[in-house]
Amino acid sequence: MAELLDAALDANEIDLVESFNSPLPLRLVCELIGVPTADMLLFRKWSAAIVRGVDPDYLLSPQEITARYEAEEAFERYFEVLAEDRRVHHRGDLLSDLVAARENNDVLSDHELHEIGAMLMIAGHETTVNALGTMLIALHRNPRQLELLKTDPDLVPAVVEEALRYDPPIQFTSRVALQDRELDGRTFERGDGIILMVGAANRDPAAFPDPDTFEIARYVDRPRSAPRHLTFSNGPHRCLGAQLARMEMDIALRALLVRAPHLELLTDEPPYRDLYLFRGPLRLPVRMRP
Ligand code: HEM
Repeated sequence: MAELLDAALDANEIDLVESFNSPLPLRLVCELIGVPTADMLLFRKWSAAIVRGVDPDYLLSPQEITARYEAEEAFERYFEVLAEDRRVHHRGDLLSDLVAARENNDVLSDHELHEIGAMLMIAGHETTVNALGTMLIALHRNPRQLELLKTDPDLVPAVVEEALRYDPPIQFTSRVALQDRELDGRTFERGDGIILMVGAANRDPAAFPDPDTFEIARYVDRPRSAPRHLTFSNGPHRCLGAQLARMEMDIALRALLVRAPHLELLTDEPPYRDLYLFRGPLRLPVRMRP
């Protein structure tokens, strides 16, 4: 991270998404899984095609649909080769452990192994890059909250939590009803697909008074009793990387406060990525000043 910040500070005016928010989680997740960082750019291209490709097909152009299938195949082929290497050499990374689990217990098929690798790469990068961006935008648009934070860096965990609630990087998730059920006056039949709007739930006034206000006091001194946002979803499929993501956001924000205390966003309306499920800025032009 220090290396990324050094380069960003040298450049003075930069796109923070390109220079910091994206490479930080991407490098971390590459290291965790055991993907050589030299291949990072390939992954960015493939995962960009997939995050667009998970939006409903009727919103996609024929080229975007083709790019999604090509990226899925590219991921599969890439992890085939990498897993083969881990069969021969245990390199102390997550992929080596997954391959060992496959070899010893036969609990995973080859296809599942490759899918897990690809999913971790995408889930571990495409969300956190957006979360860092939306957190910085929220602070920029709420200067009094930013001033509070600058006077007391112990507020960082509360800022992270409120940023996750206020502008979640994933807007919805889905489930299939396992049985007939009536909920809030609606009937769901077994097998019905259900879209759960996380972004809307996080702004429910019954759970969060004055929900459209970015208010870090919601999460100060009450990590257990504060209302829980649904940004990481809930139940058996709750985000596996929630704690890692919080830690990344916490460390990145503290580093920015120390190394670039006069960080200045150069626009109030940064362009957002043209996506439906994932949400975050496409670019974040900033002036970095130590
Ligand atoms: C701010 C960052 C992140 C957000 C907002 C986020 C959000 C989510 C959401 C909403 C789900 C879907 C859960 C569901 O359908 O119930 C999910 C699943 C998942 N996430 Fe994250 N995530 C983040 C970071 C990460 C990181 C850093 C990793 C790992 C390196 C990760 C790994 C996963 C995995 C493996 C799943 C699938 C869990 C399953 O299906 O059992 N996520 N995440």
